Amino acid sequence: MGEVKLITTSDGSHSLFNAELGETYHSVHGAIQESMHVFVKNGLEYFQEKTKQAEINVLEIGFGTGLNALLTIQKSLSYPTLIHYESLEAFPIEEEISSKLNYPKILNFTASEKYFLQLHQSGWGEQIDITNTFSLLKRHTKLQDVDLEAEKYDVIFFDAFAPSKQPELWELAVLRKVEQSMKSGAVFVTYCARGQLKRDLKSLGLLVETLPGPPGKKEMVRAVKS
Ligand SMILES: C[S@@+](CC[C@H](N)C(=O)[O-])C[C@H]1O[C@@H](n2cnc3c(N)ncnc32)[C@H](O)[C@@H]1O
Repeated sequence: MGEVKLITTSDGSHSLFNAELGETYHSVHGAIQESMHVFVKNGLEYFQEKTKQAEINVLEIGFGTGLNALLTIQKSLSYPTLIHYESLEAFPIEEEISSKLNYPKILNFTASEKYFLQLHQSGWGEQIDITNTFSLLKRHTKLQDVDLEAEKYDVIFFDAFAPSKQPELWELAVLRKVEQSMKSGAVFVTYCARGQLKRDLKSLGLLVETLPGPPGKKEMVRAVKS
């Protein structure tokens, strides 16, 4: 996937720029702001508040910098809920890069540095408990190649590169595989609000909402399985 370069986004948090794709890992208007808004607030929190479920299975597409995982740990510290966090990544970043990311410093909650290190240092394919209420399973694989268990997940963080850069990850057959892995009532969230994506998710039977996006972005999508 080529070289990545550390950049600073408008809220002061880092992101990465992939020169080969000409694409950043987050919104340049603010990486933390975007991840909080799209994935934590409109995905995880929305589901938790709606269901009050004691255990939540999260599937993330694209582990990348580990920002969504760290924000989820932060959230889980104020929840009684058990979170099983599974994340797929085809092209893991090097430790030289992950060790420079300023997320744990900016978020600055108890043991944020330690947890961020554990997120990156944990082995691929091994489920580990990072806290009493947060377990992690990172899988080193392409979404297109992986088998996903049917009706397993409650919340999907769909954080692949944009459809204009990686159209193969947004194809209907791939979205169908993800949809089949969702439980009834599960929530799919993404920063992308393309018409084609919304039509495809609707054609799979999901209830699609267009929500206001994070600062600097007009819209995002949430889709719920009935
Ligand atoms: C938009 S970035 C977001 C990453 C992450 N959620 C974060 O906050 O840093 C997309 C991620 O998807 C990964 N990726 C690219 N192709 C993939 C594939 N076929 N399957 C799974 N992940 C892929 C990239 O390497 C990158 O880490």
